[in-house]
Amino acid sequence: MLIKVARNSGFCFGVEKAVNKAFDATQKNQENIYSLGPIIHNKQVIGKLSETGLDVVNTIEEIQRGTIIIRSHGVGKNIYEQAKTKALEIIDTTCPFVRRIQNIVKDYYHKGYKIAVIGDPKHPEVIGINGWCDNQALIVQNESDLPKDMDHFQKLCIVVQTTMPISRFETLSEQLSQRAEHVEKFDTTCFATKERQESAKELALEVDAMVVIGGYNSSNTQKLVEICKGIRPNSTFHIETAAALSPEDFHGFKSVGITAGASTPEWIIQDVIKYLNNLNKFNN
Ligand code: F3S
Repeated sequence: MLIKVARNSGFCFGVEKAVNKAFDATQKNQENIYSLGPIIHNKQVIGKLSETGLDVVNTIEEIQRGTIIIRSHGVGKNIYEQAKTKALEIIDTTCPFVRRIQNIVKDYYHKGYKIAVIGDPKHPEVIGINGWCDNQALIVQNESDLPKDMDHFQKLCIVVQTTMPISRFETLSEQLSQRAEHVEKFDTTCFATKERQESAKELALEVDAMVVIGGYNSSNTQKLVEICKGIRPNSTFHIETAAALSPEDFHGFKSVGITAGASTPEWIIQDVIKYLNNLNKFNN
């Protein structure tokens, strides 16, 4: 069985930077270091960070003193204000792509625009972005979220969650644009997401089966699964680690492709490659 790895897969630069900064922080000081939500959507990496002394909290109210790590998804303005009031040291790992969205939103909100965010309303990145326009954004994930009547929005600024498929941005932003008088729209999907999605599609068209590695709760991994399933509906496997695979999964396939979400570390990808190589040895 031929094993091929997608041209672009695994850790993006934003996640890599966030994880490295978190490990650095715990090496320097092992007490009172907190991340607001898990640094990345990958249980295995979170487990390792926790062993080095990083505590995950859900709200800033849970932190009395010490250091707060803001993850790559970013947070709303109020979190910076609260951290300052509590005299917490801030280690900010907000990804530059997310920071760009926050700046656009802040700027256009102050100019009197209604802000529309195409994205998942429950995703921390979107919640954080909304925190830069007083939580007043119109959040649209699907066509059913589109308001019936938007004529009263004279000025509309549209941004999109970094990990959304570009096709969804194009469709929904077009529909939103038709409902407002003046529109400023920004394709704020990040290149790492686009590259991973394009490479996954390319590879899925080439092989018999696809293995997508990444957290079950990772938004960008789920998008890769969606893309691969669209091409290989019966032979796409979404796993977090090699332990979820079994030899029967690959019966009859001549080739298998591997891709991984932006929050999947290289060692987990290598474990899966090793597993598939062993399967090959066993079958020969
Ligand atoms: Fe940043 Fe894109 Fe990664 S937004 S954290 S480079 S997936």
